[in-house]
Amino acid sequence: MAEYVLLHPEPGKILSDQLFALGIEFPCGGCSACGGCRVRLMSGTIPITEGMREALSEEELGEGWRLACQAETDGPVSLDIEQWSASILTDESRVAVEPSEGYGAVIDLGTTTLVVELVDLATGSVAGVLPGLNPQGRHGSDVMSRIEFDLREPGVLTSLIRRTLGAMLAELVRGRKPREVLICGNTVMHHLFCGESVEPLSHVPFRPSAPGERRFLAEELGWPEETHGAAVTFLPCAGGFVGSDLLAGLIACGMHQSETPMALMDLGTNGEIALGGRNGILCASTAAGPAFEGGRIRMGMRAGDGAIDRVEHDGSGLVCHVIGGSAPRGICGSGLVDAAAVSLETGAIGASGRLSNGAKSLSLAGAVSLSQADIRELQLAKGAVAAGMEVLRQEAGTEAPRVSSLHLAGAFGNYVRTGSARRIGLLPRWEAPVNPIGNSAVRGSRTLLLSPSRRQSLLDDLLRITRHVELGANPEFQEAFVENMIFP
Ligand code: FES
Repeated sequence: MAEYVLLHPEPGKILSDQLFALGIEFPCGGCSACGGCRVRLMSGTIPITEGMREALSEEELGEGWRLACQAETDGPVSLDIEQWSASILTDESRVAVEPSEGYGAVIDLGTTTLVVELVDLATGSVAGVLPGLNPQGRHGSDVMSRIEFDLREPGVLTSLIRRTLGAMLAELVRGRKPREVLICGNTVMHHLFCGESVEPLSHVPFRPSAPGERRFLAEELGWPEETHGAAVTFLPCAGGFVGSDLLAGLIACGMHQSETPMALMDLGTNGEIALGGRNGILCASTAAGPAFEGGRIRMGMRAGDGAIDRVEHDGSGLVCHVIGGSAPRGICGSGLVDAAAVSLETGAIGASGRLSNGAKSLSLAGAVSLSQADIRELQLAKGAVAAGMEVLRQEAGTEAPRVSSLHLAGAFGNYVRTGSARRIGLLPRWEAPVNPIGNSAVRGSRTLLLSPSRRQSLLDDLLRITRHVELGANPEFQEAFVENMIFP
């Protein structure tokens, strides 16, 4: 059943601030009327702005749709925001421990989501977990929009994320002071947290200004007293936009120790991929965009109540599974991949991505449908990822049959159906088994936290064998991207 939230205007606060705190994403930070922050007004008044007219049709406005980033009101309003309920992947699996006293913490600083974990250093067990949303999302959902915002208003995003993580850790601690904290995240998250300039990441050749490990004391970061004394380390970046979240993922899947080549794909907001083994690893970031999380898809939503998350064909028509069993309200990433795969099989979509017989949209269930533009968005996203992996394979000189396993990290990787992902060409058609590994960034960081004597050598070895490949300026990537836009 859909849930509505009742909001009262708070003195000194605009409604959009309250909406953001509820998890609604603002993909363009409210700058360009992208339409990605839609919410539906059920009762009360939110005046229609010029931007809302640009982004939404008359019909949509009439149905109550509004842009959250431009919402203002004088009186109480009731809104349907179920499409924004977040699923944040945590990880509590056991890893090897070098026992020591006290507590430590690991933080996965994602572009969209945050996970803070308190760890008992004696046993390695997870003493508490706190998931949350990255408050920087208020100023844009992807790394490029964060960079643009930071160049316009330097320092705002740095204090925002430092304050939020300090408060989350203090909430988790409850008398169990952490001795040390390890943070992982992509390069933009690293630079913004550490207060480094992101300007070099705003243009070719996208070289980070200070990609190394950075150390702080909790009090230097302005964190609450409960955390004081903790040594806080932001782990080093791999290069370009590829950060320590991927390095931690490599540790979690054991790529750095593997005799045979293996692959890792983390398809979050900032897609990162790697291929290799103990003798060398290549990594890259792919500008896949947010399509796999339902972003920029007309009826896209997170994998919450009412989302179509699975689509099959029973011989007579499409059968859609809806999360929570309620009426369909939109489609999430795994449903999108399924819908495209099934439609390719039935011929409703051609290999070029064009809808067959001049159709304007593809009806799925209830009022939920996919438009031609949605299919194009999926082609762009899967084309970028597949082309990136193909370039890494060529660069490494690895024959596809030699790849022993393909690990999928992150929430989308956990839920997407492998057969559908292969059918649309998102995953390579290698024989290698596909292994969803959940939040590998948290697991890998916890492994480092619990191996204090080996940590530095592990990181040094990993950085020595890992090479970043810049895809943006790579002609082979451009060629492979065009080829991989087509469905196989
Ligand atoms: S219109 Fe882009 S975030 Fe609201």
